[in-house]
Amino acid sequence: MNLLITGAGRGLGLVLAAEALERGHYVLAGMRNPDQAGDAYHELERQFGERLQAVQLDASDEEGIASLAAEFARDGRTLGSIVNNAAVLEGQSSSIEELDFRDMEVSFDINLYGPMRVVKHMLPLLQEPNASVINISSEAGSLTNAYPGNYPYTISKTALNMFTKKLSGVLKERGAIALSVHPGWMQTDMGGKNATLDPRESARGIMDLIERKIEPNSSFQFVDHVGREMEI
Ligand SMILES: NC(=O)c1ccc[n+]([C@@H]2O[C@H](COP(=O)([O-])OP(=O)(O)OC[C@H]3O[C@@H](n4cnc5c(N)ncnc54)[C@H](OP(=O)(O)O)[C@@H]3O)[C@@H](O)[C@H]2O)c1
Repeated sequence: MNLLITGAGRGLGLVLAAEALERGHYVLAGMRNPDQAGDAYHELERQFGERLQAVQLDASDEEGIASLAAEFARDGRTLGSIVNNAAVLEGQSSSIEELDFRDMEVSFDINLYGPMRVVKHMLPLLQEPNASVINISSEAGSLTNAYPGNYPYTISKTALNMFTKKLSGVLKERGAIALSVHPGWMQTDMGGKNATLDPRESARGIMDLIERKIEPNSSFQFVDHVGREMEI
């Protein structure tokens, strides 16, 4: 299967690429700046060679995403999974009185419009059997468990879940699935050192979902990394 993963230079995106490669898949690793890929990425390149390709993908750049999709189409490339992983966490501690709307704008731009831009342009390529769109979401986007503060991130993830729900109806016709996945509280730059989950464990679960080893039963297509239904 060919997987396109956004934000694949570090954090969950990078370990997801590693897990997919170890399982024999091909990975198109989307990064804002492939030239600045770190040692861990280069080690994957050394190990997996031609099954890993870095591609320039900025979630905020629709023109760039469109030309990347055109390039894939020209090369006769198909996709089995689109993993919208890239995200930002901005203005986390601002109260509503202090809220800077630039934090709202950038959060929606990357966390919601980013996945929408990618799907808009890459969907025609999603032709492989058992195809999927995986939108990496968060429990922070749950309406049921909403808490005060962290407005930009949480509201962008709630909206992302709505996009997933709508998309799942579109994909159903072609035997493909869309899922919003809460990956757990992971030890990454975003999750911090006190987080409880090794991102590799989350990546294993997400790959099981992509490979349909787990078939989640969720009416809102919102699950955790082992396929358990999340509260919307
Ligand atoms: N960590 C957690 O505990 C946790 C919990 C729940 C949900 N999540 C979700 O899990 C996903 C991965 O999070 P993480 O912990 O791996 O985050 P992270 O360590 O902060 O990494 C974020 C990734 O997103 C990329 N990115 C940011 N802006 C981008 C843009 N405009 N275009 C393309 N890529 C961009 C970054 O690339 P650069 O290197 O170029 O900045 C980086 O690869 C996110 O969707 C996050 O919301 C994480």
